[in-house]
Amino acid sequence: MVANSTHHEQASAIMKLMADSPLLRFPKSFLWGAATSAHQVEGGLRNNWTEWERVHASRLARGAAKAFDTPSVHWYRIKHEAVSPENYISGRGIDHYHRYEKDFDIAQDLRLNTYRFSIEWSRIEPKRGEFDMVALEHYRKMIQSLRRRGIEPMVTLWHFALPLWVEEQMGFQNPKTISDFGKYVRRVVEYLGEDVDWWCTINEPEVFATMSYWIGLWPPQQRNMFTAIGAYASILPRAHIKAYKIIKELYPQAKVGISKNMIWYTSQGKFVTPAIARLWNWFGNYYFLDQIKKHQDYIGLNYYFKYNLRGLKWDIDQQNPSDMGWGLHPEGMYALLKAMGHRYTQPLIITEWGLADAQDESRAWYIKEVLRNVHRAMTEGVEVRGFVYWSLLDNFEWDKGYWPKFGLVEVDRTTMKRTVRPSAREYAKIIQAGGLD
Ligand code: BGC
Repeated sequence: MVANSTHHEQASAIMKLMADSPLLRFPKSFLWGAATSAHQVEGGLRNNWTEWERVHASRLARGAAKAFDTPSVHWYRIKHEAVSPENYISGRGIDHYHRYEKDFDIAQDLRLNTYRFSIEWSRIEPKRGEFDMVALEHYRKMIQSLRRRGIEPMVTLWHFALPLWVEEQMGFQNPKTISDFGKYVRRVVEYLGEDVDWWCTINEPEVFATMSYWIGLWPPQQRNMFTAIGAYASILPRAHIKAYKIIKELYPQAKVGISKNMIWYTSQGKFVTPAIARLWNWFGNYYFLDQIKKHQDYIGLNYYFKYNLRGLKWDIDQQNPSDMGWGLHPEGMYALLKAMGHRYTQPLIITEWGLADAQDESRAWYIKEVLRNVHRAMTEGVEVRGFVYWSLLDNFEWDKGYWPKFGLVEVDRTTMKRTVRPSAREYAKIIQAGGLD
């Protein structure tokens, strides 16, 4: 858990071993994982997203041609799915709710020893104060099923989607939601805590606040910078701290953190632009983590892209793009790990990173290159405990729907057939060997 001297001694012994080996070896205890989240895979849900999808699917389909027909997106490949309103309805998901046993067989076959997934608040508490024991029992079975296969469950308590009653009271714009979140967390942890060591309270607070309350691309489509800042800078950190305290009160040994999306900011120019980049870097990357510094046992890092700042304007770097048009920059992982290792004392876990790659052209390369960068940071002293790829399975990518294919495993949504992608086999070989050449 939080660093103590024995733990540091162990860490430096591991570091020495890693640096001395001609191969890129990872510690035996390393967490090798893949992730999903409930709304993106389960199917059969009713929450703020399902209501929003019904109303906005046609608009999103009409807008797709304009939004994605760019040189950085292989539009001709995704077009047939992206222009169909059905693509934007989560619906049956990929039926992970019913097929999890089979999906865990695949995870086991791929040698994964960790699975990060989320509990769906709208299932557990469909109405304020009414807790659904059948839903809780479902998650207990999932956790036991992972444990039987020797896979460590890493459980996210809230990953973007909200129960309708929470959305009606204005979600995390309303400080009242903090205590409601606390009550939900208590129930879940009382029920499942015995079998869970790793908890993630909140997924990507900055992404949620920006997309939902600032640029308004996600429900409830608020466009108010102050609301977004209020949620990000005050309400969500307080919600995390509340959840942290509840979990530690019930299970003091549990390891609790959040997943924080980290952006690799770069800038051109001499004075003003780098200063602005530093400000964004501080507020976007570190502000939240600094607020909860004393209330986390590990730091979860999600890394997807690099921002280039030019003057006051920033853009996602699109060099060597994934299907989403996000440039693939493995060295960003090294830069962020080093910066975080320097700033915080807690161990780091890469709780998400990955790419949409329907043709599976770049995934194996990217996995290896990112891992080389993780290894490099580790040999230079950064304590990284695990590496969790997004995602185990193709899934519902929020306002983009089903066309982006992030999965190690391809899913045919008509038959629900699962097919392991070649890159996943490469990942499995690395895990089995404990590293790469
Ligand atoms: C989120 C996931 C999402 C992934 C790819 C992260 O922002 O936690 O829900 O699917 O990135 O965009």
